[in-house]
Amino acid sequence: MADVSLRNIGKRFGTTEAVCDLSFTVNDGEFVVLLGPSGAGKTTTLRLITGLEQPDAGAILIDGRDVTRDPPGARDIAFVFQQYSLYPHLSVYDNLAFPLRSPARRVPEPQIKKRVEQTAELLHIASKLNNPATRLSGGEMQRVAIGRALVRDPAIYLMDEPLSSLDAKLRAELRLELKRIQIELGATILYVTHDQVEAMTMASRIGVIRDGKLLQLGSPREIYESPADRYVASRLGTPPINFLPARLVPDVALPVGTETIGIRTEHLEIGKRNGGNLIGRVHRVEHLGEQNHVHLSYKGEMLVTLADPHQTLDAGEEVELHLNHPLCFDAAGRRIPGADAMRF
Ligand SMILES: Nc1ncnc2c1ncn2[C@@H]1O[C@H](COP(=O)(O)OP(=O)(O)OP(=O)(O)O)[C@@H](O)[C@H]1O
Ligand SMILES: [Mg+2]
Repeated sequence: MADVSLRNIGKRFGTTEAVCDLSFTVNDGEFVVLLGPSGAGKTTTLRLITGLEQPDAGAILIDGRDVTRDPPGARDIAFVFQQYSLYPHLSVYDNLAFPLRSPARRVPEPQIKKRVEQTAELLHIASKLNNPATRLSGGEMQRVAIGRALVRDPAIYLMDEPLSSLDAKLRAELRLELKRIQIELGATILYVTHDQVEAMTMASRIGVIRDGKLLQLGSPREIYESPADRYVASRLGTPPINFLPARLVPDVALPVGTETIGIRTEHLEIGKRNGGNLIGRVHRVEHLGEQNHVHLSYKGEMLVTLADPHQTLDAGEEVELHLNHPLCFDAAGRRIPGADAMRF
């Protein structure tokens, strides 16, 4: 496989700045996930790398070679599109073989057969090769769409939310399979999504993107534990991180400049009143089966955390809060590093 680098890429559509001074590298054999909301510039970034769009500024390098002005066909990239489409009149086999049969490639049929069968095996659709593409479940169609990228042996795979149209169970299954396949093939993949679970479970590194800007790039653990700012902190975690104005926690020596405290569920313990001085009130308990979401009010602010389903908590009850190493943010929303080692 190969690596791909973006250097100061910019792209405007009229007055919209879709991508802004974007620079990062996907290393050879790495699985990078760009995580961002709708309109963040994810699809645009992938289209720029494939050459379906031309950047206004910057350069794109594949294996160190500047491909910025190369046509899409010369870039050796396989793309799984956000709206996947199969050829309905073709069988699964012929759908998978299609990219290899392009006149430019001229792959001999016996070799095509081998690649198609290997790919179908990898994706667990070998028994469906003779089915018409229309006679498949949604998850199987999605696998064929991914398979059409995998049959080739490109420099890099780009995937645009390939699991977004699937139900939760299939998505969970294919997440695991894609990661397994990527490791097996040693593939270089740039994958974009708005789904934090996909990012956390599959990525070697996550890039958090918003308004066309890359806010932070790091391992899932780095992004989760050491977010650069409040926005990045709020992208990961279920239930989402709580923010509390620092002035509401008295008697604690917070690091200088702390304006907001970021409290993830693991930073917050709740218990019966026992002489502590952070007192909240249970507002509502949502029973989700294996865990409970507890909604609390504290000095007029709402907090949400997880609780053991065996812990009895009633709406209206007063509880004691204990904070374990919460995150601290300054007035501009940036995290104050090294200031998180407190308990109160
Ligand atoms: N061809 C185009 N013409 C005009 N504006 C465009 C075009 N393509 C994208 N945009 C704009 O650029 C911005 C980024 O769009 P993009 O499709 O890259 O977002 P995205 O992160 O892929 O979002 P989604 O999660 O909804 O797919 C948006 O504001 C969008 O409206
Ligand atoms: Mg998109």
